[in-house]
Amino acid sequence: MTNYLDYQFEDSETFINTFDEAPLWSASFGLLLLKHLELKPNQFVVDIGSGAGFPLLELAGRMGSSCKLFGIDTWNNANQRAKQKIKDYNYSNIEIIECSAHKMPFENNSIDLIISNLGINNFDTPSDVFMECNRVLKPKGKLALTTNINGHWKEFYQVFYASLIQIGKSNLIEKLEHEEAHRGNIQSVSELFIQSGFRISKTIEDSFVMKFVDGTAFLNHHFVKLGWLSSWTNLFSKEDLQDIFTVLQNNLNIYSQENDGLNLTVPMLFIEGEKQ
Ligand SMILES: C[S@@+](CC[C@H](N)C(=O)[O-])C[C@H]1O[C@@H](n2cnc3c(N)ncnc32)[C@H](O)[C@@H]1O
Repeated sequence: MTNYLDYQFEDSETFINTFDEAPLWSASFGLLLLKHLELKPNQFVVDIGSGAGFPLLELAGRMGSSCKLFGIDTWNNANQRAKQKIKDYNYSNIEIIECSAHKMPFENNSIDLIISNLGINNFDTPSDVFMECNRVLKPKGKLALTTNINGHWKEFYQVFYASLIQIGKSNLIEKLEHEEAHRGNIQSVSELFIQSGFRISKTIEDSFVMKFVDGTAFLNHHFVKLGWLSSWTNLFSKEDLQDIFTVLQNNLNIYSQENDGLNLTVPMLFIEGEKQ
């Protein structure tokens, strides 16, 4: 019943050929980004954490040939896929550069706009990346990003806390609270901007609901296994995992019966800063 606990992610060329975050998760954040970005001609643009090419290729198509876009990512297989898409779409205004956003191969004051869709939660030291963005942006250049913030899947976490209490493991609640809170909020993300020499020019908070039939579907969903499962299983000892997830899954299923399914809220933040 809990065989998703055996899931092991393996990166490969084959994996990346079928991997599209865009249809479900990244798409919602990417649409928020595309909605609130100001698009101008003759811009040098960088997408940090461009992954398999979303929303980089969409933005390149919308900005057109007077603009030059660069996709920066450390993930080789994703970069290969992005390059294949660029070739297939016959776009000549994009270049993929395999490097870390901590050290980008651009001159000081050379870029007009930097974007990142769901990048900052993945960077080891986001504050260093923000400083690097400040270095490469022109004065008044913009850094615009989307990120998921606290409140993420709060309905799931509430059932998770109740399940830990039910099996007498309330001592583990603190660990789960820490995991839930690490995403930050509008204040903590704004701080990163301000400390790196940006003036906040726009913030938009929005949310969407991800619906699942029940907890069993949720815990077995490929993207949940890929993106989140290990951040929960790593909190607990191996001996406790079966008990915790059996009760959690059961409680999520009861919750779903009582609430017309498992409808999970995903808060989103669009935030844009201007280099001072
Ligand atoms: C959640 S994914 C987002 C991908 C894509 N922007 C999207 O919206 O689907 C985060 C990306 O950040 C990349 N990443 C992580 N650390 C990085 C770093 N230091 N420099 C550049 N990219 C990084 C990962 O390889 C991954 O592709």
